[in-house]
Amino acid sequence: MKSGKITWCAEFSVQSEYIDRQHQNLIAIVNDFNQALTRGEGAKITYAILNRLVLYAETHFRDEEKLMQMARFPPDQLNTHIKEHVKLTEEIFHHCENWSTYGKESLPGIGKFLAAWLLGHILKSDMKYSKYVAKIDDKFLSVK
Ligand SMILES: [Fe+2]
Repeated sequence: MKSGKITWCAEFSVQSEYIDRQHQNLIAIVNDFNQALTRGEGAKITYAILNRLVLYAETHFRDEEKLMQMARFPPDQLNTHIKEHVKLTEEIFHHCENWSTYGKESLPGIGKFLAAWLLGHILKSDMKYSKYVAKIDDKFLSVK
């Protein structure tokens, strides 16, 4: 994960082309960050990466929550998922603050956070809604 490029594969699919494309965007952000770290240019790119993450999270979490509601994802599970989104959003801002306070020292923490987002959230939490979403994806896309 540290230096290797992450490649999209079927294992990442949540059965929504729309959300899969957004997740691919996140992977591109993570790859850009990791490649910059490998080249020793992490510090140069971090501000831009964090900005991209803030913008991405805002749209992506909103879209995902809307999709889960349309797919009739059970309300208790939806609430748990929304709480995870709130926590991820808080963590992004926490890393933004760390970056402005500690600079380069905050880079490993940002790397770990991004890896946990991909492996912990997408591959575990997001997968839980995939079977509900598979049936209604076209409808979701038509209202976008
Ligand atoms: Fe999610």
